[in-house]
Amino acid sequence: MDYFQYRDGELFAEECSLSQLAERHGTPFYCYSRATIERHWHAFNNAVKDHPHLICYAVKANSNLAVLNLMARMGSGFDIVSGGELARVIEAGGDPAKVVFSGVGKSVEEMEQALNAGIYCFNVESEAELERLNQVALRLGKVAPVSVRVNPDVDAGTHPYISTGLTENKFGIPMSQAVEVFKTAAGLAGIAVKGVDCHIGSQLIEIPPFIDALERLLGLIDQLQGMGIEIEHLDVGGGLGVNYGDENPPHPDQYAAALLKKLGDRKLKLIFEPGRAIMANAGVLVTKIEYLKRNGDKRFAVVDAAMNDLLRPALYSAWQNIIPLVPREGQEHSYDVVGPICETGDFIGKNRMLSLAAGDLLAVRSAGAYGFAMASNYNSRPRVAEIMVDSSQDYVVRARESVQQLWQGEQKLP
Ligand code: LLP
Repeated sequence: MDYFQYRDGELFAEECSLSQLAERHGTPFYCYSRATIERHWHAFNNAVKDHPHLICYAVKANSNLAVLNLMARMGSGFDIVSGGELARVIEAGGDPAKVVFSGVGKSVEEMEQALNAGIYCFNVESEAELERLNQVALRLGKVAPVSVRVNPDVDAGTHPYISTGLTENKFGIPMSQAVEVFKTAAGLAGIAVKGVDCHIGSQLIEIPPFIDALERLLGLIDQLQGMGIEIEHLDVGGGLGVNYGDENPPHPDQYAAALLKKLGDRKLKLIFEPGRAIMANAGVLVTKIEYLKRNGDKRFAVVDAAMNDLLRPALYSAWQNIIPLVPREGQEHSYDVVGPICETGDFIGKNRMLSLAAGDLLAVRSAGAYGFAMASNYNSRPRVAEIMVDSSQDYVVRARESVQQLWQGEQKLP
């Protein structure tokens, strides 16, 4: 459930008319709903009930400071993948003691930064990383809390670019090597083994792959326990899918209930790293139609947002709903909604049945996750504004970039 609804013939974000926001702030812009973000976070948090757990919001989905600050206010933890993300979390008021650090390529500097900040856990993805982390921790006179990311080799049945739990993917340590790596970790003075971690992919719309992965991880945990390696927590990663169209993914309640049932009476603390499930449907991208054009039988709506603003359609052939802010009467036609960028792949949606006129405003739905976060300046396009609504109030949480900002930091030769 989200708070983007039609009322009196126009689309609202909570109590704010999106058309009025467009008039005041110009287009394109991202608009996030505070109430939706909070609703989704609590839905996840409440789903786990009183089993010990920590929700670590996956910062990569949307790292705007206002978004991170809302998470912090709810007591959320954070899943980060870079020193930049850690800095953002701290700047936003997040608690480093609730941060888990994922990613296959942590640098020495990032390890130092995270150890000095006192994060909750490093999700280690290789033996080489484990050795480096041990050395960095010893040099700083610290002990690094570690969870080893295991690749359970399950097929998440999702898009190949966002599937991560197969042996052929670069992520984690293969199940067959996991025990050895844990043994090594347990013997290192700069490392404290805390947990087992996995993340099998993103936009999963069924429960069974999660349960397959969990079964394998629990088997491993039992084996480790038998060897005297005590595991305190199990990080099940992110990946719960959302409705872009009619996917009908499980509700966090169903997802958590299935996991808890498998867990039985084990006391393991559960860590979740949801990104999309919290943010995707908490945001829209508002864009204006510059031109309607026809090439033969093909109709195009050329809008002012492009693949640099929202990359998912171009990169993954992702389908996101496109709806008018003010629906108009009249004949619908099939349109390709395309941006101004000089690439054939620059589309937001294809073959959409819409009744349109130039100047109309459109909302691209489910754009709160992996939308602005993946934006670039390609074609020297300043990145768009981000607005957060809170009931009838709207706040510019990131100003539209200026043209001068495009070459900030660049230099001509003397
Ligand atoms: N934890 C780890 C270790 C991850 O790699 C990811 C996402 C998450 C958590 C959060 O997954 P979520 O709950 O959001 O599914 N750009 C792609 C998605 C890439 C996801 C990468 N990892 C997209 O736009 O679909």
